[in-house]
Amino acid sequence: MDNLMELLETRRTYRRFEQREIPGEVLDEILTAARFASSAANRQPLSYIVIREKDKVAEVFSHTRWAGALPPELGQPKENERPVLFIAVVENLDINADCDTDAGLAISNMTLAAWNRGVGSCIIGACNKEKLSGMFGLTERQKLHTVVAFGYPSHVSRIVDAEDPAQVKYYLDEKKDYCVPKRKLEDIVRYL
Ligand SMILES: Cc1cc2nc3c(=O)[nH]c(=O)nc-3n(C[C@H](O)[C@H](O)[C@H](O)COP(=O)(O)O)c2cc1C
Repeated sequence: MDNLMELLETRRTYRRFEQREIPGEVLDEILTAARFASSAANRQPLSYIVIREKDKVAEVFSHTRWAGALPPELGQPKENERPVLFIAVVENLDINADCDTDAGLAISNMTLAAWNRGVGSCIIGACNKEKLSGMFGLTERQKLHTVVAFGYPSHVSRIVDAEDPAQVKYYLDEKKDYCVPKRKLEDIVRYL
């Protein structure tokens, strides 16, 4: 995609995916994008675990919850709609225990680099971190920040203007595509 604003607008959250693998070179780009992210004092407390074997992806998936705003039958990916890759973001508490912004920047870079290659993503905060930390073999000084799911989307997701700034719940249209209301600039910006 040549246009950054178009990339930003269409890099939405995707929750249904085609069942085809992501090539190694695309995965490398996603991870490199995380490596390129800014980090407070350049301390770089984050590391990444890649889960792409089918059985392990299924195990991670079983510890995740999708689309809290929708009933599960609409929001939870079905067996043939699941992501094909997860990347877990892990904090090293000995380097910097307060690295939420670092993590956000790295996740943003990863999801944008993925979308630049047509790969959609869903950031998953609602996951069983205890179970996943056990599965990943994290130590006491490592903390699971987030897992991010990836795959080629099988639906569209688009931004719609939130006419009423109080109504920002995402919803599905008649084609089951996601509509994501974003508050208008005039509702979120104030010039001093
Ligand atoms: C920190 C964070 C945690 C999230 N956790 C989940 C989650 O657990 N499950 C899910 O389906 N979506 C999750 N999302 C995706 C949000 O629901 C999504 O970003 C929001 O609805 C806006 O849609 P958009 O990303 O297309 O703008 C998360 C997003 C962020 C930024």
